[in-house]
Amino acid sequence: MSIGEPLPRPDGRDKVTGRARYAADQEVAGLLHAALVGAPTPSGTVTAIDGREALATAGVARVLTAADMPRFGPVAPPSAVSKLPMQDGTIRHEGQPVAIVLAETLEAAECGAGLVRLTIEPAPFRPQGGGEVAVPPGIYGPVTFTKGDPDAAFLAAEHQHIAEYRQPSRHHNPMEPSATIAVWEGENLTLYDSVQHGYSVQAIVAAALNIRPERVRVISPHTGGGFGAKGFVWPHEILTAAAARVARRPVKLALSRAQMYANVGFQPNMVHRMALGAGRNGRLTAIKHEVEHVTALSDDFVEMATAASRGTYASPAIFTAQKVERANVNMPTAMRAPWEGPGLWGLESAIDELAHAVGQDPLDFRLANYAETDPATGKPWSSKKLREAYEEGARLFGWRERAGRPKRDGPWTLGFGMATCSMGAFRFPSQAQVRIKADGSVTVETGCHDIGTGTLTIFPQIAADVLGLPPDKVELIMGDTRLPQGGPTYGSSSTMGVGASVLRAAENARELLGRLANLPAGEVVMKDGRIGRRGGLGAGVPIGDALRTAGVGEVVGKGRFTLPGDAPFNADGEGTPHTIRTFGAVFIEVGVDCELGLLRLRRAVGSYSAGRVINPRTARAQMTGGIIWGWGMAAMEASPYEKKLGRWLSKNLAGVAIPVNADIAGDIQIHFVDEFDPHASPLGAKGIGELGATGVAAAVASAVFDATGKRIRELPITPGKLV
Ligand code: MOS
Repeated sequence: MSIGEPLPRPDGRDKVTGRARYAADQEVAGLLHAALVGAPTPSGTVTAIDGREALATAGVARVLTAADMPRFGPVAPPSAVSKLPMQDGTIRHEGQPVAIVLAETLEAAECGAGLVRLTIEPAPFRPQGGGEVAVPPGIYGPVTFTKGDPDAAFLAAEHQHIAEYRQPSRHHNPMEPSATIAVWEGENLTLYDSVQHGYSVQAIVAAALNIRPERVRVISPHTGGGFGAKGFVWPHEILTAAAARVARRPVKLALSRAQMYANVGFQPNMVHRMALGAGRNGRLTAIKHEVEHVTALSDDFVEMATAASRGTYASPAIFTAQKVERANVNMPTAMRAPWEGPGLWGLESAIDELAHAVGQDPLDFRLANYAETDPATGKPWSSKKLREAYEEGARLFGWRERAGRPKRDGPWTLGFGMATCSMGAFRFPSQAQVRIKADGSVTVETGCHDIGTGTLTIFPQIAADVLGLPPDKVELIMGDTRLPQGGPTYGSSSTMGVGASVLRAAENARELLGRLANLPAGEVVMKDGRIGRRGGLGAGVPIGDALRTAGVGEVVGKGRFTLPGDAPFNADGEGTPHTIRTFGAVFIEVGVDCELGLLRLRRAVGSYSAGRVINPRTARAQMTGGIIWGWGMAAMEASPYEKKLGRWLSKNLAGVAIPVNADIAGDIQIHFVDEFDPHASPLGAKGIGELGATGVAAAVASAVFDATGKRIRELPITPGKLV
């Protein structure tokens, strides 16, 4: 049994010693370095580009403009944008690529990029906060939802709570900025790329360049964090491939940290308009949640933050609606804990306020409104042990005993808050194969990625569990579109999709091996590198012998995870008899220095009902990381936007605060309820990665309220809001 063991990461040492080779680290002979020239204005037309000075710089080979680029074929999601840059002079947002300088060295390319002279006819623009508000078409399903009569129910409610909760735009800032190397050999293109799903890049680059997908190979050996910024396919990847074709040389483009701000998405600013009604007994009678956020002019990105309010609490009446504000900004995209991450900031803050208004403990209020079935559809849950998660989390934190705790520690006023955590379940099909060789080596092969979440650890662990091998004897080969098509590494979906395909592939490999050893199907057992008959393993033979005796060099087991109707995507078990979600509760203790306005995280407990845990160590790391990410959302992160110039003000990590070790209390406890969800995946597992980031901001704001009596409804909770 290796599933359930706290195995360490096999890739950990390589990553912390710098041995791991990322996309931009790949050695390709004869390549040109690319530097993007971004539009300095958020709107207008490029009427002329003068590259003479740039070309006079030593080492600069080409200055590419829209005129040099091929006409791209139409692209749709998973392309992040449908209107690709460098096709004409139109400027839709600041930082949009308008020219590419190619040079023998990175220094020459960057120097040249600074010398390209643009003539621009500026046009009036709509800034973030001044755009056109619209109801978008539903990309991920309907953008409005109504159950019962929410208006009447709200108006009739004994207790009513109406408030707006706001959050700023934020950027992903993965440690490794996006980078692409494009290499053409005749009609075949190889891309070394930093991505969360290579097959998306393959499909979109092929479509844009009007070539067949089979001609595009995407290799991505390591991905240094993504958080959603590398989920969709962004224009710079297409531009790099096109530039290499035009220049007839391999081209490497690594986005600078500053360029990441305008070229690979962000989480849009959001306002949550909440209206909750409850009866005298504290039972919810109405939940209304409207979300509005910014999007680009070219495409409607819809952050379905209202999903939280359809799936978390029992209520006879629910109304949710999504709006977008179209402005001259770059395209937003999903960011770690999409949908419920922002959504629960609004919902859980409002729930906490209503609990206080009703006069109930916030935990009791939540228990009183526990959703025994899916509130939106009435379907049963695939599995849900949130009651246990609440109870065990409360016990670990001492929630029920908090009244007896000191409320001061030196200059710090202490406060306690809690919130419900929840995520939907994005599931994607996946394929994998498991190869067993006569020399006893075993490889798991699937085109997935490890963005830091631990897939490199747990997929070999799953195969080793089936094959009765020590996990370090199994190697994962991934990050290459030539491998069986693995599911994407986003949406907390990998374990369910890719993990299940690995499970099936390993089972298939065991069966094939059993056949070679003349063992009856269904009675094959593997343990300690031997294969034998159930109950008679003592007489089993070493795997290598079984292969050699049969005169076979290797067996390759194949595995698939599919969705109902062979769909390419399934949200929350739609179309099945069950609704699939994950659940949990987060408890927070903060300290507030009311004179200086300082806010500190002192303690956190996260308690989760999220299916079977494959590896408690990587799982714990995921949830701890989620709570830290949530603290960043709660107390620190905002991407300031300069409205007059229509651009991000501070395009670097010096001007955008994110949590570092000194910001994080050592006392973060993670607990998982023992659970097996047979409907989410054959592994019994659900998604966990992003669940930990949900609920945290609301729990922090509630703790701040507990400490100070001040209710903060706008993130982040910075000193100016506390003094
Ligand atoms: Mo995440 S936004 O699912 O990478």
